[in-house]
Amino acid sequence: MEELVALCKRRGFIFQSNEIYGGLQGLYDYGPLGVELKNNLKQSWWREMVFDRDDVEGLDASILTKPSVLKFSGHEDTFTDPLVDCKDCKSRWRADQLKSENCPSCGSNNLTEPRPFNLMFKTSVGPVEDNESFAYLRPETAQHIFTNFKNVVDSTSKQLPFGIAQIGKAFRNEITPRNFVFRVREFEQMELEFFVTPGTDEQWHESWVEARLNWWNEQGVSRNSLELYHVPKDELAHYSKATVDIMYKFPHGLEELEGIANRTDFDLGSHSKNQSELEIHSSVMENNESNARLAIQDQETKSWTVPYVIEPSAGVDRGVLAVLNEAYKVEELEDGKSRTVLNLKPHLSPIKAAVIPLKKNHEGLVKIALNIKQDLQKLRLGRVLLENSGNIGKSYRRHDEIGTPLCITVDFNTLDDGTVTIRDRDTMQQRRIDISELPKYLESLILN
Ligand code: GAP
Repeated sequence: MEELVALCKRRGFIFQSNEIYGGLQGLYDYGPLGVELKNNLKQSWWREMVFDRDDVEGLDASILTKPSVLKFSGHEDTFTDPLVDCKDCKSRWRADQLKSENCPSCGSNNLTEPRPFNLMFKTSVGPVEDNESFAYLRPETAQHIFTNFKNVVDSTSKQLPFGIAQIGKAFRNEITPRNFVFRVREFEQMELEFFVTPGTDEQWHESWVEARLNWWNEQGVSRNSLELYHVPKDELAHYSKATVDIMYKFPHGLEELEGIANRTDFDLGSHSKNQSELEIHSSVMENNESNARLAIQDQETKSWTVPYVIEPSAGVDRGVLAVLNEAYKVEELEDGKSRTVLNLKPHLSPIKAAVIPLKKNHEGLVKIALNIKQDLQKLRLGRVLLENSGNIGKSYRRHDEIGTPLCITVDFNTLDDGTVTIRDRDTMQQRRIDISELPKYLESLILN
């Protein structure tokens, strides 16, 4: 983990947030390369979940959330972790994560009894801070998918089964944020709520677990690094009938990367008015405040159903950490030296290609390199960089370390015959090709 954290800082992937003021625990900022990697991962998810299917629609809902939403979702009552205080050194811990009865900081056994600590952040909306104005920062993106259920159904005429996908920030006041971006207080989720006819839910649950495993595989996370954890009944979240977690071998241990839950009709039922008219299967809460009936009418039979929902919910930040960890390699070379390389899948690489003139600021070489950069950039495959450093060896090492799949060197032969040297990141093999072949070559490298 330390090597990864150091690489992330050195090369501009991830920085401690608020660092120049001493940092703020559990918050990180994504730097120039990190933002590209993160965006590429999110785009890959969106393509798979929305563009490649016709039964999923997208959403981008607000972060600020009315307390009633999170009251009827059950979060106000149950979204807690057990907190203990050390009476001697005043540190605070999650009771369920303590390995002994002693304080991990000072070793004292003078700890308080665990008490529930609600993880939701509060703020106030408008100029007056009072009970009327308070709002939450959403602890999951899911709730506004449920509150928008009727809007999406009415505006798209969807019939079951169908899904609503959303990527966005979520906030949790974690008691002990740790392990780099693994457990943080502000993070992003990629969530799909896939609505199905009750009775078909268990089959859909199984097929979504399979689909999500395959997707992680396509992001370069090998099946050997993943395990499925069937969450036991007594550990299930308040809304879940069954949850399967995709666990990844993070540098600090095997932990959850994504959860796939069968949320039944719990949420739509909880946010619906006139529940007595609806056939709701789960033990939803009494609700007198919502003005919506979150059900769907079958076009043929005209009967109303409160769908069950299968929810694949993945953390973007945990995804970035997993993808980086899988890709990170230190290789011994034949000359006795070593190189650090990120074998990222090319579609995730922050920089798709670096164009390097052999001699820094050489007018003829730089001009050709700039033309190549501009032509490749027009393909809209991601960022292509002109690297006018004049030090080929150093440029190759830097681009290996940040995962650039292709380096293109413009040298003096280029001036005569219009060919360039291309170097493959993974094999380090070099060969010459004509400049006109570059667009097809890069396209096939990135899109395959
Ligand atoms: N809507 C369901 C839900 O939020 P969750 O298991 O609490 O379920 C889903 O969260 C995913 O969000 C997790 O699998 C994890 O990847 C990510 N996640 C949750 N808490 C996190 C935190 N404090 N820091 C980083 N990622 C987190």
